[in-house]
Amino acid sequence: MTRPRILVVGSANIDLVAGAPRCPRPGESIIGRSFKTVTGGKGANQAVAAGRLGAQTFFAGCVGNDSFGQMQRATLTAAGVNITHLKSDAAQPTGTALICVGDDGQNSIVIVPAANSSVRPSDVEQLEDLMPSMDAVLLQLEIPLDTVEAVLDMAGDAGVLTIVDAGPAQKVPQSIIRKAAILSPNETEAEAMTGIPISSVEDARRAANALMGLGATEVVMKLGANGCLYVGEDEVYVPAFAVRVVDTTAAGDAFTAALACAWDAMPRRSALAFANAAGGLAATVAGAQPSMPKRESVNAFLRERGETAFE
Ligand code: RIB
Repeated sequence: MTRPRILVVGSANIDLVAGAPRCPRPGESIIGRSFKTVTGGKGANQAVAAGRLGAQTFFAGCVGNDSFGQMQRATLTAAGVNITHLKSDAAQPTGTALICVGDDGQNSIVIVPAANSSVRPSDVEQLEDLMPSMDAVLLQLEIPLDTVEAVLDMAGDAGVLTIVDAGPAQKVPQSIIRKAAILSPNETEAEAMTGIPISSVEDARRAANALMGLGATEVVMKLGANGCLYVGEDEVYVPAFAVRVVDTTAAGDAFTAALACAWDAMPRRSALAFANAAGGLAATVAGAQPSMPKRESVNAFLRERGETAFE
């Protein structure tokens, strides 16, 4: 079995999740149906996903010295993730995300970074020995952006593939767009960077080309129910698999982790289909880290549909 070595540098949150008929409008209070406390954070979600997909995974980040931080450590460890570089900040609580999930599975999220803000460029120096042995480095934008850039510089010097998940949506510095080997936004994140609203694959194509114009090397657009689109040396569109959506939270994280695992090991279209399958399966289960699928499940799902598994 291919076991890529993947380093994730990013956020770890505890998600406080209210299930409700729909997400409230500004100024509105509504009655919810359920409440759950689950481990989340784009960085930790991607690390847990990579671990469950069979990668040798390392996670660098920061949690508080509190029970939420302990929850994160336990879930990452149970997924086989090496957390030697997960530090604790006694002065800050673990990051939290307040999430509303509507009956249609769509969500809205408020992130309070807290300890995630303590992942500083100076922490990156400790990753120098690890870096050359990595197959891929995964980054998101929930830790300070100067730290993201420092990791990109170090990975670039070591010749390691970098994938930047461009969430949460924001105006991303052009230096990060240029330094990422693969930039991977969803529709809202691509709109925040390009000003192009995306409601079709054609819109996504225009936004991806606008990102190339800003200096991106390769772009993988995550389009949810519309699948994904690669733009770089060539262009590859892969439609999504039909699934029964329960909760889309972290489906993009499962996608990004799967992409990192398969990118160098499979032909481009197959790697994109593997990522689509992982993201689709994540959307069928409630919660962020509880929904990250195992490699066996993703491969079984692909084989049932006559697609290539990631061996
Ligand atoms: O991508 C989903 C994640 O975004 C959630 O787990 C939440 O913590 C926020 O980081």
